[in-house]
Amino acid sequence: MEKINTLIAKMTIEEKAALCIGASAWTTASIDRLGIPSIFVADGPHGVRRVKDENDIAEESLPATCFPTAACAAATWNTDLVFRMGQAMAEEAHAQEVDILLGPGVNIKRTPLGGRNFEYYSEDPFLSGKMAVSLIKGIQSRGVGTSLKHYAANNQEFQRHVINAKIDERTLREIYLRAFEIAVKEAKPWTVMCAYNKVNGEYCSEHHRLLQEILKQEWGFEGLVVSDWGAVHDRVKSLKGGLDLEMPGPQERRLKAVVNAVNAGEVAPGILDESVRRILEIVFKSKEAAGADSFDENSHHQLAREIAAEGIVLLKNENILPLKAGAKIAVIGNSAKEPNYQGGGSSHINPTRVDIPLDDIIKHSGKNKVTFAQGYTNQDIFDQALIDEAVGAAAFADAALLFLALPPSKESEGYDREDLNLTLQQTGLIEAVSAIQPETVVILNSGSAVTVAPWIDKVKALLQGWMMGQAGAGAIADILFGEINPSGKMAETFPVKLEDTPSYINYPGEGKEVCYGEGLYVGYRYYDAKKIHTQFPFGFGLSYTTFEYSNLQVPETFTDINGLTVLVDVTNTGAIPGKEIVQVYVHDHEASLKRPVKELKGFAKVSLEAGETKTVSIELNFRSFAYYHPDYKSWVTEDGDFDILVGASSEDIRLKAATNMTSSLKLPCILDRESTLREWITDPRGYAVLQPMLLEMQARIQEMLGGETSIGMDSLGMIIDMPLESILMFQQELLPMPADQLVDDFLQKAHAMGA
Ligand code: BGC
Repeated sequence: MEKINTLIAKMTIEEKAALCIGASAWTTASIDRLGIPSIFVADGPHGVRRVKDENDIAEESLPATCFPTAACAAATWNTDLVFRMGQAMAEEAHAQEVDILLGPGVNIKRTPLGGRNFEYYSEDPFLSGKMAVSLIKGIQSRGVGTSLKHYAANNQEFQRHVINAKIDERTLREIYLRAFEIAVKEAKPWTVMCAYNKVNGEYCSEHHRLLQEILKQEWGFEGLVVSDWGAVHDRVKSLKGGLDLEMPGPQERRLKAVVNAVNAGEVAPGILDESVRRILEIVFKSKEAAGADSFDENSHHQLAREIAAEGIVLLKNENILPLKAGAKIAVIGNSAKEPNYQGGGSSHINPTRVDIPLDDIIKHSGKNKVTFAQGYTNQDIFDQALIDEAVGAAAFADAALLFLALPPSKESEGYDREDLNLTLQQTGLIEAVSAIQPETVVILNSGSAVTVAPWIDKVKALLQGWMMGQAGAGAIADILFGEINPSGKMAETFPVKLEDTPSYINYPGEGKEVCYGEGLYVGYRYYDAKKIHTQFPFGFGLSYTTFEYSNLQVPETFTDINGLTVLVDVTNTGAIPGKEIVQVYVHDHEASLKRPVKELKGFAKVSLEAGETKTVSIELNFRSFAYYHPDYKSWVTEDGDFDILVGASSEDIRLKAATNMTSSLKLPCILDRESTLREWITDPRGYAVLQPMLLEMQARIQEMLGGETSIGMDSLGMIIDMPLESILMFQQELLPMPADQLVDDFLQKAHAMGA
């Protein structure tokens, strides 16, 4: 601190401004005369994309391990594994002299069409936040920094550079900011990257409320805020908004603009100094830890395989998997030879090697048991000959393995998907192959949901393989042949059809504006509320063994500040070892504002031998029960009953226990001139003030309306949601003073009662 203050005192305004803008595509400015080194940053979320030339944005990067994408990592629900992935990525970063990795991304999968969904964890903020915490802690434990991105509400690629996301405050807090909040508070990322888009009318890069007030002040973020690449429009405004570092650089004109603004008094010197301080702290921190100049490619490849195996989700299995030893297998599909293991864009890794599914299947079965047919190409064109060839291969096998992946260019940063369908060629292939070969298994490699409804009944099994990184092929083979028992579960819902999805009506917006009209009801929160049948629900995944839940223990009462511990026994009731993901959801019986039917507040992945029982313990805290109340501008709890739901998926709740919470909060009175009669009588202070005249008030209204039936109205129903002032206006002659004055008088009394 001392050292940094001394440096700041010695720096010129020009040097300070220069430090706040990149020196190249990937580096910050060094100031040799003061011994300030530069740092090197590189993408990204699932591997190191370090280019040789610091001025080149998109050249092929140095070879690095391509770990499973976030979509796959999240489906492991295994925080330890993700932590280890972070450690391995940090080793590679050290070896390539990278100081900060630009990830993880925690934007919520609002629509399955999101082009970048493969780079994000989940539709649920709690799961996203916890995954990010593990990755960040893993990377930073080895002295390499992270960049939590894209803050905030970058939930679509369509017009991402300009789109204005219109989101109400509660939805923003509970859904779109929550994962950032969890990660910032629990893992302390060195940097946070702002998003390109606008939120409620302001560019994220200039958003004082998001950057300065919420992130830095409220959450206590100590690191630096970096722009997404090219997200800054006005450097002076962004500096005032709380954006510390603009990337990429250099940007001569903008540097001058900052210098001029400081000299002209338009930017207080303290603001620039604060950004410089934040940047210098990270610069020096990044130089503290040294790592080896090489990394163990084999062990990292092995780790990538382990993560992929835990992230693969078995979605359907009618007694076909694991495959029987000695079976003749037709491997069909281009992605069995050219695996679709990562998406397009800035996260694209130049892998150290790539395993090929066909090779791994041959390794298990022997060459003479396996035939291959391409089935489709990487283009979206229909070719009957390829289907015929595949049918020929399938007909003479005991089972057909259909490897399906969208044409690679369909899943990328920068644009969204247009629909959730496989190509016509691929659906035709499934029809034809499954017609001739009843023992057909589909292995899907997609970064996000695909509609399977048209063909799912025709196949015996479905494995969701995601974009599973460079070692995914071996992981898939391990699962197909039963070397590994599948244990992944869905971190995102697969809907039956696109029209069922929460944002269907509002997405992608128009006139450069997208309204998040579905509010809190994203993912399973929406399907629950609307009772919409899903194809594969959030949290779902099969195993080759079975699990039973019993003995749920939850205290009957608790206080919000103490939270509570959920204990539940899980038994492996099958014949082989396996891992189960236990999910804890909370249902609030009653609240002043509407709440989703249930929300994920805890989970644990537990490994069980055949026949073994373990007691799983999951802690719930204040936030597990609170919701964000926009009028109080804070997270609130209310006394009342809750159900603790323990499930194997969001639609498979196995056990339920009731409990009663006492809130510790003494909320201030927020009644005002616009408060309705309902609000007055539900506030204890309002009720106390109003009580003496309530009956009279109702009787008067009844009289005025001529009794309950004359104009077909229920008088209480009529007035209950009217502002008190408007009700009183109708009884002016009975009042001791004008209605508005009387309301002011009441307000004074109610507020005087305190919290
Ligand atoms: C992406 C970021 C990425 C940056 C640098 C941007 O286009 O949105 O996620 O870190 O480029 O490659």
